[in-house]
Amino acid sequence: MKVAIVTGGSNGIGKSVALELGKKGIGVILTYHSDQRGADDIVREIEKKHPGGAVALKLDLSKRETFEEFVQLVKKNLDERWGRKTFDYLVNNGGIGGGMPFVEMTEEYFFKILNTNFTGPFFLTQSLIRFMEEEGKIINTSSTSSRGSFPGYSAYGPSKAALTSWTRYLAKELSPRKIRVNSISPGPVHTNLGDGVFDKHPEFIQPLADQTALGKIGSPIDVANVIVSFLSDEFGWVTAQDLEVSGGFLL
Ligand SMILES: NC(=O)c1ccc[n+]([C@@H]2O[C@H](COP(=O)([O-])OP(=O)(O)OC[C@H]3O[C@@H](n4cnc5c(N)ncnc54)[C@H](OP(=O)(O)O)[C@@H]3O)[C@@H](O)[C@H]2O)c1
Repeated sequence: MKVAIVTGGSNGIGKSVALELGKKGIGVILTYHSDQRGADDIVREIEKKHPGGAVALKLDLSKRETFEEFVQLVKKNLDERWGRKTFDYLVNNGGIGGGMPFVEMTEEYFFKILNTNFTGPFFLTQSLIRFMEEEGKIINTSSTSSRGSFPGYSAYGPSKAALTSWTRYLAKELSPRKIRVNSISPGPVHTNLGDGVFDKHPEFIQPLADQTALGKIGSPIDVANVIVSFLSDEFGWVTAQDLEVSGGFLL
């Protein structure tokens, strides 16, 4: 059985990715940060069809000192659940959003964004890559914000730009092992990002939809479908690419 690790798999885009991979009979290690109950529900959903097919592990991408313990838990689960010493897919999806005007930006806020969205995935991948299967696949969830557009996102945007840039370096350095590395850049998607801003302020949705060529903001499944396709062998000759998944945001 193939096995995927999906960070930030408890909600939003990562939740949809975990469920879609589970439907395909791929074993899923999904991570949560605060929402253990949500993560456990996803595991139960996957296991209805594939008993033993998923496990939820806690991960805080902003705390690198916890990664070794997390990696040991991943190894234990691979061995005990799937009889594997390696895994096949890594979806670096966990992240945080939100903005703060540049002139008011605190160091604390800046490093929280940077560490969660870039430094964390960078070093977590370094730890996990040792036991990724040859011909494995990595997808990084970047953002259209990496190219800059809205005031207040001067930390978030660059954290995602770093992720996109890193994708290309990783693709090159891991190519001797035939590991493919790509990123996707979603436009606005209705998730919990930014402390659930779209639920708290539904009035923000229509103006964004009006700036989207296809006339709506995204749903998690719109993005998850693309991530799952990218992992498939149909994309077997695609690496080092960033694909915008936005319905034509700001086109
Ligand atoms: N929604 C958008 O408009 C949009 C646009 C472009 C890119 N993205 C990117 O898409 C990815 C997924 O976000 P989403 O929109 O699906 O938002 P979401 O619904 O808030 O999901 C975020 C996921 O990341 C996890 N997470 C939060 N803080 C974390 C931390 N410190 N360490 C590890 N995991 C953490 C959350 O876990 P808990 O829920 O368990 O706390 C959750 O599973 C993010 O990288 C985001 O930047 C989103």
